[in-house]
Amino acid sequence: MSERPETPQSPGPAGPGARTEAARAAELDAAGPLTATRERFVLDDDTVYLDGNSLGALPRSVPGRIAEVIGREWGELRIRSWTEAGWWTAPERIGEKIAPLLGAAPGQVVVGDSTSVNVFKAVTGAIRMAGKGTTEILVDATTFPTDGYVARSAARMAGLAVRPVEPARIADEVTERTALALVNHVDYRTGELNDMASITAALHTAGALAVWDLCHSAGALPVALDACGADLAVGCTYKYLNGGPGAPAYLYIRRSLQERFESPLPGWNSHSDPFGMAPGYTPADGILRGRVGTPDILSMLALEAALEAWEGVAIEEVRAKSLALTDFFLACVAAYVPAGRVRSVTPADHRRRGSQVSLACPGAGEVMAELIRRGVVGDYRPPDVLRFGFTPLYTSFADAERAAWVLGEVLRDRAADPGPAADPAAADPGVPGGGAG
Ligand SMILES: Cc1ncc(COP(=O)(O)O)c(C=O)c1O
Repeated sequence: MSERPETPQSPGPAGPGARTEAARAAELDAAGPLTATRERFVLDDDTVYLDGNSLGALPRSVPGRIAEVIGREWGELRIRSWTEAGWWTAPERIGEKIAPLLGAAPGQVVVGDSTSVNVFKAVTGAIRMAGKGTTEILVDATTFPTDGYVARSAARMAGLAVRPVEPARIADEVTERTALALVNHVDYRTGELNDMASITAALHTAGALAVWDLCHSAGALPVALDACGADLAVGCTYKYLNGGPGAPAYLYIRRSLQERFESPLPGWNSHSDPFGMAPGYTPADGILRGRVGTPDILSMLALEAALEAWEGVAIEEVRAKSLALTDFFLACVAAYVPAGRVRSVTPADHRRRGSQVSLACPGAGEVMAELIRRGVVGDYRPPDVLRFGFTPLYTSFADAERAAWVLGEVLRDRAADPGPAADPAAADPGVPGGGAG
């Protein structure tokens, strides 16, 4: 595991009353690339939105397109839109648009269903491809819960055991009995970035497959599925890809595995001749095998329109700004937050950091509820984590500075009047900023 430094704490040379970092934020916003892309999103100046790692903001390209889909394609063309408006081929067409953000060559990504459902397809598909002597699967011990639940069910159906393993230990723990490991690229709670290349290589050396969950990395940093030799991957599109609430997820199947991929959900959309209505199942060639049933067209086409926000944007620029934003936020926290009140659980090392900062803090649920009341929207993850997500396409350095300032105010106010936080149950107001993880 990487080091987890205490966030340096000092009120700053000018004391707690001064916004010492505000001028620097203005400079960084003026100089930085990706300042103008903020205009591609619907945002308001009263709110600092740092929850794009749960639900991305609304791209301006979406409402008009959805109005057109409803009014013209559904309202007037009706059933003709399956062919004339390209509805039928939307899952693979939109997959091609996402593929460059995943480091995937064409023909390997298909969009549809939720991430949870795609975890089931990927894990079961991998189990079915695994060698005969395998007896277990490894699951990232720090995984977002749904992956663990689904993987356990898939393993049980195949008669395999499940062994939770910390991502950093996978290379030591994998054996010739391991069918696969399911690993989160970025840890949803701490923001730690796992090393896809080395973990995948270690799995392959032992003869196991690598299945990656990209929910917290795709759109936030360069992902290199092909270059790392990843076998299968899944991810959601409502976080850094801004596809909207419940937007469909995607499934990546490495091209050289596609012929061996046997879907556990062989719906008619993945049939080689879906309109032949044959009683027997024959899988389509290629990535179409990842489809299941009728795609949710409204969500899918909202996602397609949302991807226009990426026009002319290089993911390397996104990564550079993400690291600058998270560094700057940590510096502002150090300057503004009373000493010892928060501790960063996000790796300081850039090579191990995703695009969020997670601060452990007593009474974190209440603190986040108060931050949201004061216009700073992050979220809270039990038991004690304040999560702040940075979406470089629209998060500004001024946002980072204001969020740290308000956090300092909230924590100073609580020190003066601690309220009911002594009782942890009373301190937990639910899931402020709740929604997908
Ligand atoms: C890492 C990770 N995996 C899986 C999921 C579950 O996605 P879904 O609810 O779309 O199935 C989430 C949701 O936020 C997530 O963060």
